Amino acid sequence: FCSPDKEWMGTPIDELNRNPQCAPPLPHLKATPNHTVTIRTDLLKEGDVPIPYPSKFRDAWDDVSVKMPCSEKNMFPLETEDGSSLQSRWELIRTSLQRGFKSCLDVRDAILRYNMAHAKKWDFTALNLFCTEYLELCEVQQLFEAVLPAMVHLALRAPHLCTTPIPLLKSGMNHSLTLSQEQIACLLANAFFCTFPRRNSRRSEYGNYPEINFYRLFEGSSPRKIEKLKTLLCYFRRVTETKPKGLVTFTRQVLTSPPDWESSQTKLTCLHISCRGTIEENGYGMLQVDFANRFVGGGVTGHGLVQEEIRFLINPELIVSRLFTEALENNECLIITGTEQYSKYSGYAESYKWQGSYKDETPRDEWQRRCTEIVAIDAVKYRHFLEQFVPEKITRELNKAYCGFHCSNLNIKHLSAVATGNWGCGAFGGDTRLKALIQLMAAAEAGRDVAYFTFGDVQLMRDVHEIHTFLTEKQVTVGQLYSLLIHYFNQECKNCRTVRPDTSLYSFIREKVSTPAESNSEWDSGMSH
Ligand code: AR6
Repeated sequence: FCSPDKEWMGTPIDELNRNPQCAPPLPHLKATPNHTVTIRTDLLKEGDVPIPYPSKFRDAWDDVSVKMPCSEKNMFPLETEDGSSLQSRWELIRTSLQRGFKSCLDVRDAILRYNMAHAKKWDFTALNLFCTEYLELCEVQQLFEAVLPAMVHLALRAPHLCTTPIPLLKSGMNHSLTLSQEQIACLLANAFFCTFPRRNSRRSEYGNYPEINFYRLFEGSSPRKIEKLKTLLCYFRRVTETKPKGLVTFTRQVLTSPPDWESSQTKLTCLHISCRGTIEENGYGMLQVDFANRFVGGGVTGHGLVQEEIRFLINPELIVSRLFTEALENNECLIITGTEQYSKYSGYAESYKWQGSYKDETPRDEWQRRCTEIVAIDAVKYRHFLEQFVPEKITRELNKAYCGFHCSNLNIKHLSAVATGNWGCGAFGGDTRLKALIQLMAAAEAGRDVAYFTFGDVQLMRDVHEIHTFLTEKQVTVGQLYSLLIHYFNQECKNCRTVRPDTSLYSFIREKVSTPAESNSEWDSGMSH
């Protein structure tokens, strides 16, 4: 754990840029060819619930839009005595959900009525345990008398609330989608009741999309599921009690021309590094990194419960991105602006616990979005330590981070700092010291300072602070640093027969930078003395 005397090093965190203070005024919100807005922008007003646009449901059943449960084309085959015919699946969903629930078995039965093909496979043990063993009697009552009926009502308002076809954010697209928090709540209520068509099998047309229907949330008997259910039902209770009034924007961003890393003359930016605190709590107003899976949200509705899944649980509006975000390619990221935190938590993974409702007081911007900006970037998963030093892998991670951090249409002084930490170094097995450098390089190239949270690792805080100070003093550029990384691979990793190289990356860098220039021609050709 952190020694009480030094919990952070480098630049004081208050000297880094945060939103909304650092942001320039926003242009008027309006729909454009690469920005879908699903509400009446002319009527958008602080304190009012946004009005859906258009006023009547526009049905789209094509391969560029989300297939909605309430679409006329959403049919299911019905076997009768006089042969088979097609029936409206939305009708069936409505009648199933409106019959009312007395126990969680009724919830299961309702869901299975319109998901008949999965009746044998889907398992509702966790939901059952949750209702019968973990809730107090009065909580069960509240769930069945208030929360679930309100969720049904919300889900069934889909054709009135989500009237614009929701574009699929497909691979290669630079596109933004702005939804109201109320529309998101409606979509998530539908996800909870597993109503989205064609989304229950990886082999279907949505095979390259994350899972959206919540059926995995209900399966198994892991205590993780209980805590997930508590967290998500807190969200549903909150949004059904009081309609949320803001908007959220989802932006898929593609990096088409990556920087030429080798020739970059950029110097490192400022670093605040702390062994205490978290990205979400201490990095408010900054660009907060989601240590993502290429299927955004990772295992949030399933078994996963590390950084990304926890963030998606406490800010559940993030989960709706799974409905329309195709798997991220190497040069892509997803930026989500405006989500709200509804729950507090403690612990991590196995020890994760829901700690009650959270009142988010983050200010809203002119578009009525909470000033919370989260960027989903997925690192590469490494099984062997040495793999990650291969130049192509380093470049891939640099470009991925840069894709997430850069913002082409803003002056540097308006950019918030990046709030990050051990990206790719938990479930994905990366090396914290290499990944810290990669993120520092990408942030520098994007013109942003960095707030780095080491999650309790004191030694890492010292090491990264030390190398950052050293590199800054020696005025080492991003390009030189890149060449040093390649040089480290060639000299220490390529022919290494052990699991890890003998020389650590940071001592290698210090050694090379400190030795007089003549003996270092391989890496310092760009260095001026
Ligand atoms: N703030 C700062 N640091 C944190 C926080 C936090 N809130 N939470 C965790 N850390 P991991 P990955 C540190 O394993 O390796 C998910 O399933 C902590 O040191 O979540 O990129 C995704 O969906 C932790 O060990 O990220 C992907 O499938 C480290 O960050 C996969 O995991 C890495 O967190 C991504 O794995």
